[in-house]
Amino acid sequence: KRIAILISGGGSNMVSLAESMVGDHPARPVLVLSNDTEAGGLAKASAMGIATAAIDHKPFGDDRAGFEALLKTELENADADLICLAGFMRILTAEFISRWEGRMLNIHPSLLPKYKGLNTHARALRAGDKMAGCSVHEVTAALDDGPILGQAQVPILPGDTADTLAARVLPMEHRLYPAVLRRFAAGDRTPVYLKS
Ligand code: GRF
Repeated sequence: KRIAILISGGGSNMVSLAESMVGDHPARPVLVLSNDTEAGGLAKASAMGIATAAIDHKPFGDDRAGFEALLKTELENADADLICLAGFMRILTAEFISRWEGRMLNIHPSLLPKYKGLNTHARALRAGDKMAGCSVHEVTAALDDGPILGQAQVPILPGDTADTLAARVLPMEHRLYPAVLRRFAAGDRTPVYLKS
């Protein structure tokens, strides 16, 4: 399987995914693409020998279809079979998503279905939750809403802030996403559950 990884920032999840695709793994990273030409993850991907592309979304304004036309070209050039969204901060149109239905994954820093959208850790803290974590799901048209393929749980501790909680969740993302991709790339949708 040929994997395209979409990022917007540092790409720590991209790095852990790319590092996992070695040996007898059924997938290989063939493209790392960012909507931000300055994304730190692009240099990391290049250093790992992975082809990169950057499409600045800002000139397109709200012309999402225009941005996605270039995205489509890059994905076709890389002959990608599967997309992993990894810290990718753009909303994709239902039309684009429908073309990748069943072939696009995302990692979200909450125990879905709780806290779809942004500021997940602050919301879990404000709610007084005892647990937090991250979820990998298939991408569907509704935001952060598709079938769950894996979850990792961490405890919320007294005195936690959104930053300390994010710092506890992120390493679990780096364990969860590769574990899910290995199964999914082999056609296995059995969910993965991890606890710290
Ligand atoms: C992190 O907050 C992570 O929870 C979410 O995207 C953000 C950046 O991740 N998935 P990355 O370091 O760019 O992979």
